[in-house]
Amino acid sequence: MAKKMLEVKDLTTKYITRFRENIYAVDHVSFEVEEGKTLGIAGESGCGKSTLALSLMGYYFPPLYYSGGEITIDGRNISGLKPDDVRKSILGTEIAYIPQAAMNALNPTAKIIRFIEDVIHAHDPKKTKKDIYDLAKERFEILNLPSDVLQKHSVELSGGMKQRTVIAISTILSPKVLIADEPSSALDVTSQKLVIKMMYDLMNMGYIKSMIFITHELPLLYNVTDDIMVMYAGQIVESGSARQMVFDPVHPYSKGLMDSIIVPEEGTRDAKLTAIPGTPPNLKDPPKGCRFADRCKYVMPLCQTSFVTMRRFGELDDDGNAESQRRYRCIVPVHELKETFKREGGLRNTGGAAI
Ligand SMILES: Nc1ncnc2c1ncn2[C@@H]1O[C@H](COP(=O)(O)OP(=O)(O)OP(=O)(O)O)[C@@H](O)[C@H]1O
Ligand code: SF4
Ligand SMILES: [Mg+2]
Repeated sequence: MAKKMLEVKDLTTKYITRFRENIYAVDHVSFEVEEGKTLGIAGESGCGKSTLALSLMGYYFPPLYYSGGEITIDGRNISGLKPDDVRKSILGTEIAYIPQAAMNALNPTAKIIRFIEDVIHAHDPKKTKKDIYDLAKERFEILNLPSDVLQKHSVELSGGMKQRTVIAISTILSPKVLIADEPSSALDVTSQKLVIKMMYDLMNMGYIKSMIFITHELPLLYNVTDDIMVMYAGQIVESGSARQMVFDPVHPYSKGLMDSIIVPEEGTRDAKLTAIPGTPPNLKDPPKGCRFADRCKYVMPLCQTSFVTMRRFGELDDDGNAESQRRYRCIVPVHELKETFKREGGLRNTGGAAI
């Protein structure tokens, strides 16, 4: 069995507003990422993807607070560490984070090599500038980045080059888990491909051991991730392999998300694009029952009053092996949801089979 690089159990974190309101943007979230695997996280704006990333990093600065749960990286429990300890002993070595719009946050007055010195000195203050330069030059060259970039300022770099540079800086200490929050969203298609290729080069060369890829772009997730987890209003509502999630989603919200995209595969050309009516609930006062109830076309009275938990269900994967990682949050049994979707038609409701 593959080694677990990241295990998250019941992670709950909240924002406390100026008016002392609690906003649980990550609510009892549990999942695992194995060595060599990439997990994609999808969901509409405001569903908690970036807050989850910050929480995994132990980035608890007001108004964000840890509320409960456990995070284990390669067997080491890092939950509850103080931000200072996180910075010294976790950031960069155990876990690295490329924040949303990271490339625009580089200080334009500093040369790229200075950022690398900062990252390395946070862990090893005695390392000489010469050693750091040699290490950075070697890593940049391995990753097909021109090493003269090290002496440049961020304003001298194109968007794609800037983003690849940010990734190279963040992973210079070879972290076990890399979290990339919308790493390619603002880029043209060619730069996007180079960014993704670089992330996979890092994994294939052993510089990182696992990845979490956050993006709005579901077709991209399907193409680049092993597994996909869908978040809605601070909770996971479904998870499974990328193929299962795109071609055989069972939660009505995931189904709505998947129906709203075109996956460039044979048979999906005629799929109608749909949008999910309505907006996610306000997390200051989330619904008592299912959080998707206001927008779900299958809603029943029980959905609005029951506490809806995650349920596991077994499926056969593409190789015919039983797999148990599929989970969904809905009170309706899987077979009933699938039958309903089938009755309604739709090219993707084929039980994961070829379409
Ligand atoms: N500083 C903050 N104070 C209070 N609430 C916040 C703060 N930052 C985010 N939130 C709330 O937390 C929830 C999750 O936000 P988050 O940024 O994690 O969503 P997201 O899924 O990353 O969205 P996007 O796709 O737009 O990046 C939202 O409801 C948001 O309003
Ligand atoms: S629990 Fe009810 S409202 Fe929620 S997704 Fe399932 S059917 Fe829809
Ligand atoms: Mg975000």
